[in-house]
Amino acid sequence: MADSAIALDDSRYEELFQIEGSAERSGSGVVDDPYPIWAELRAKAPVHRGSLAQCMGLPGEGLSAPGAVQYSVLSFAAVSEVFTRKDDFSSESYIDIGVSHKLGDSILNMDGRRHRSLRDVIQPHFQPANAEGWWNEIVIAPLVKEFIDKFADQPGVDLNAHFFARLPMHTVTTGFGMSPQQGLEFRGYMLRAFDYTRTTAEVTEATNAAGELLAGVIAERRLEPRDDLISKLAHATLEEADGTSRPLTTEEIASYCRLIVFAGGETTWRQLGIATFALMTHPEQMEEVRRDRSLLTNAILESTRWNPDPLFYRKVIRDTVLQGVELPKGALLNVCTGAANRDPTRWEDPDRFDIHRPIQRSTAFAAGAHSCLGQHVARQEIASAINGLLDRFPNLRWDPAYPPAKLTGSLVARGPGPMHVLLH
Ligand code: HEM
Repeated sequence: MADSAIALDDSRYEELFQIEGSAERSGSGVVDDPYPIWAELRAKAPVHRGSLAQCMGLPGEGLSAPGAVQYSVLSFAAVSEVFTRKDDFSSESYIDIGVSHKLGDSILNMDGRRHRSLRDVIQPHFQPANAEGWWNEIVIAPLVKEFIDKFADQPGVDLNAHFFARLPMHTVTTGFGMSPQQGLEFRGYMLRAFDYTRTTAEVTEATNAAGELLAGVIAERRLEPRDDLISKLAHATLEEADGTSRPLTTEEIASYCRLIVFAGGETTWRQLGIATFALMTHPEQMEEVRRDRSLLTNAILESTRWNPDPLFYRKVIRDTVLQGVELPKGALLNVCTGAANRDPTRWEDPDRFDIHRPIQRSTAFAAGAHSCLGQHVARQEIASAINGLLDRFPNLRWDPAYPPAKLTGSLVARGPGPMHVLLH
């Protein structure tokens, strides 16, 4: 399935996967370490008036909904409530802040019955057994091998550009049935659509180009299904609220693809880098994992607690109270999973990366109806990639010829920049 992913032009990845470049174009700028400010804010109150950027004293307000008053939610308890109180908090926030203009009308911005029935169409393909089975055997493991083979004989490599950027994007595009070249083109369009320095016309043009690329693949799979998710969606049945059922429209399938390909490729790219960065900067824990791979599951979960994608959004749909703070109908909530995941009332010494913590749920994959659909696939990818590195390179270490790798990014997306390592 992944025959030619390694043949693609290296420079395209360097151009399309840059943490700092994306942060500069994100609307809230580059923030090297937001955690100390989040700790101060969270210690003062679980919920604050103002967008997260405003509460932190940063210029600009980040993503915003025209005319909406904003609040920031920072404690573990408050963030968990926002994700699960579905009668008070809606995912329509993603329409209001313009994300759905780029992705299309997808499950991300739907609520209630409509969300449930559309999610049910695809959910079976993302269960743990499928992540370990079909996804890993057909898609992930062959890609891990191909990418590692390509650089294995070199003395060193930038893992971010040559491995972490590639694996998640090609996992989701291959899983959906796009060719590697189509996957890379698609990523280029979506990156343009999410570039906040572009005009509305340019964003619409990029979104339409992504839509046309997908429409072509969907039309082909309607005629000749293959063993991929676009084929499954093209031949699936959606149960409507009135008890009738119908096939999905091309736009419904395209929105699914845009959401999963972009959301799944993006988050896992960064989280794979973060998990590897965490282990390499804690060499004693990396050695433990190398010797006992059963610890890898904990290590991955701990890395998603320690440094998750830190900011999501909800809209208040009726006047309500959250942790003692009154919230008016229509307000936009900045839901800071980054701050929630280091809440000291839930985790002892929360800034410490520690693979031996007792496992308890963090907010990295959200909670409730919208909890991450792809979390088992994401964790499988990270596990297969790190196992691949540990198996093939017993002497893996930082390359001292380069500046040390660091975690950076924006308020919405964080990860390591270049990660230059020596392999042998
Ligand atoms: C480590 C990597 C990942 C992280 C940290 C992550 C995190 C999240 C979070 C926090 C949400 C909730 C967003 C919200 O409701 O506001 C979400 C939703 C979602 N994620 Fe992930 N994700 C990851 C990887 C993936 C992958 C690999 C896929 C697919 C292959 C995926 C597909 C989705 C989808 C479809 C949704 C929307 C679910 C819904 O609205 O019902 N994610 N993810």
